[in-house]
Formats: sequence, structure tokens, C-alpha cells
Amino acid sequence: MDKDVTKVLFEQARLEVEGSCRRWLLARRPVGPAVREDFQFVEDMIPAPPPGKYLARVIWLSMDPKQRLLMNATPRNTEQVPLFGVMFGNTVAEVLVSNHPDFQPGDIVQDLLGWQSHALSDGRGHYVNNPYGTRKVKPALGPISTAIGVLGNGGLTAYFSVLNDLKPRAGETLLVSTAAGNVGSIAGQIGKIHGCRVIGLTSTDEKCRVVVEEFGYDACINYRTATDLSAAIRREAPRGVDMFYDNVGGTIAETAASLLNPGARVSIIGYTEQYSAVAGGKPWTWPGHLSQSQFIIHDYHREFDAGIAQLSAWVKDGRLRYREDIVEGLENAPDAMIDMLNGGNIGKRIVRVSPNPAGVA
Ligand SMILES: NC(=O)c1ccc[n+]([C@@H]2O[C@H](COP(=O)([O-])OP(=O)(O)OC[C@H]3O[C@@H](n4cnc5c(N)ncnc54)[C@H](OP(=O)(O)O)[C@@H]3O)[C@@H](O)[C@H]2O)c1
Repeated sequence: MDKDVTKVLFEQARLEVEGSCRRWLLARRPVGPAVREDFQFVEDMIPAPPPGKYLARVIWLSMDPKQRLLMNATPRNTEQVPLFGVMFGNTVAEVLVSNHPDFQPGDIVQDLLGWQSHALSDGRGHYVNNPYGTRKVKPALGPISTAIGVLGNGGLTAYFSVLNDLKPRAGETLLVSTAAGNVGSIAGQIGKIHGCRVIGLTSTDEKCRVVVEEFGYDACINYRTATDLSAAIRREAPRGVDMFYDNVGGTIAETAASLLNPGARVSIIGYTEQYSAVAGGKPWTWPGHLSQSQFIIHDYHREFDAGIAQLSAWVKDGRLRYREDIVEGLENAPDAMIDMLNGGNIGKRIVRVSPNPAGVA
């Protein structure tokens, strides 16, 4: 039989085994916190890849606060998810069929494939804010799920922002908001690696326990139950705050701003508190006289390989610990995101969409 015909028949048989393509679409733009009715679940046929594209099966789907931001009609600095478009999501996936010269069946890739079980990709990334496109995952560096966690966007954000924006020096005090989360848990540990006193802020006593006992912070404050947050931080930071790692903005950032030492540095990572805000809410902005940097991970994409190598080495030698907070099944993606934005996650929240390929950790 002709080689091309054999290939097409093989691909068709493979797609039949895979079943249908399941997707979550954005059904309406939420006002305030997202609810399940903002999403619509659809099923259709798995598409075959045209020339220049590959078809991948999604294995792991990243849950990111930014997903809520992209549901808004006017997200700041980023593209929005179109109405009835597939929800935005970073993924780890296995290439099933390829009509792209750079990708082969069996390749494990990290790509912005969205909330769906299968997707086509041209390898260039689906959103404008992804200047680097598909990246091949190297299982030797760590479990493949970490390509969207400690060895992915979150870990790289913590790594480059702490080193380049905060420039930590031994003996200084670093204050980190959302300390139990994906980025925050890693940022604080990098501060510890550099000899700093590190204090975390998070929303529950259990998260505080993990921040201290697992992530090795010196102290952690439950900002919801602290009667006087400013006094609580001053108690843990008797010499003041030299660096603030700002994941949320809002009242937490406002409190931190009032406690900064002269010459303190601030790395502005995100403003999660505002992502669900009803239009018209006043965003918190950092006072202009402070030494602050607005961090964007994409600025560092040429240095990703070096950053991943360092993070992987720290994980392997036990200096950097990470937690994955796994939700089973694509059908639960909306609840996984909503719960994360209510503080339900410890570490990196990911959704298992399908099993790892046999023999791959
Ligand atoms: N600049 C960049 O290039 C870049 C790259 C990656 C991520 N980010 C940003 O980094 C931040 C952290 O992302 P992540 O992936 O690590 O998420 P995460 O911290 O793992 O999860 C979100 C956490 O945000 C906190 N939160 C949610 N709503 C809040 C509110 N209204 N007020 C205060 N805290 C709230 C909760 O933690 P608590 O329980 O502790 O409150 C929740 O667990 C986000 O703003 C994200 O957009 C920026």
C-alpha cells in the first residue's frame, strides 16, 4: 500500500481511539467573581492537522488567575478570550499526529492549547502574549506536569523577578503575598536560598503551616484573621521590609507599602484582587516614589532554558520544594479555577485532562 495512504489510515484509526474532542467555551463575560454558568461544555470531532500543524492530546491544564482576567471585556495588557471561544489555558500535551516539520508523534510539548482535550497548533502559540510558541518538554528535568508549574511560567516568574527586580542580599527581609500559591511559594524559597528572612502572607492557618513547614519560610501571617495586619508584619519584620513581592495588589499591597524601608524594592507580579473586580473599581497603583518593577515573564523568554536548568537543579538537590494541587478531569476545570480564586489551592493548581503517556513521569 502507498506509504501516504497507510499514514492517513493509521491517523484515522488513532483519532477514532481517542474519541471526541471536549472543550470549555466562554459563554458570557462575568461581572464580579466567575460562576460555572459563565462556561459552556461542548463535544465535537477531533480535527486532523492540516499542513503546518500538529494535533495534540492535552494531559495537564494549568489554572492561572490570569484566566479570570482574560474573561473580562477589557483585560489590561492582554488579549481577551472571545465569547464562545475556547477558554485560555497553558497545557502540557502529547503530539498525536503531525503535519509540522518540527514536531513528531510522541513529543511532549508545552503550549497554550486551552481548556480542551485535543487541539491543533502551528507551534507559534495561540495568543499574542506568547512570543516563544510551543516548547518541547524534557522529562529528564522533572515530571512533565512541572512544565506548567515549578519548571514553567510560575517558577520562571519567581526566578527572574526575585533575581532581577529584588536583587536579594543575605540578611534582608522579604515579604511575599499569596505565599502558598504557585509563584509565591517559589519566590520565597529563592529568597531563602539567598540568605534572606522571608515572611509570607496567605488566607488560612493551614496554608500558613505549609508555607513555614514545607516551603521553609521564617514566618507566615494569616491576613484574613490578623486583627492588625500592619502590626503583625512589624512583629515578624523587626528591622522593616527590604523587599516586597506583590502578587495581589489591593489592601495587602497598601499595607506593605507603608512598612517598606528606605531603598526597598518591590516586584509587581500581578493584581489578582482586581481580576474579578466589577468594572469601575479603582485599581491599586503603587506610589511612584518607590523603587518598583512591573514584571512580565515574556521579557525573559530567551533565558528560559537557563532558568529551567537552575530551578530543576534546586528541586533535585532539595533546596526548592513545590506542591501540585491536582483536580481530576477536564469537566471540573471551571470549579478548579473558581476555587483557586477563592484561595482553595496550595501550590500550583493543575487539572489532569488525560493520563501521562506510558513510561513518562
Ligand atoms: N507578571 C508575570 O509575568 C506573571 C506571570 C505569572 C503569574 N503572574 C501573576 O502572579 C500572581 C500569582 O499567580 P499564581 O499562578 O501563583 O496563583 P496562585 O497564587 O497559585 O493562586 C491564586 C491565589 O491568589 C490569592 N487570591 C485570590 N483572590 C484574592 C484576593 N481577592 N485578594 C487576595 N488574594 C487573593 C489566593 O491566595 P491566598 O489564599 O494567599 O489569598 C489564591 O490562592 C497572579 O496575579 C498572576 O496573574 C504574573
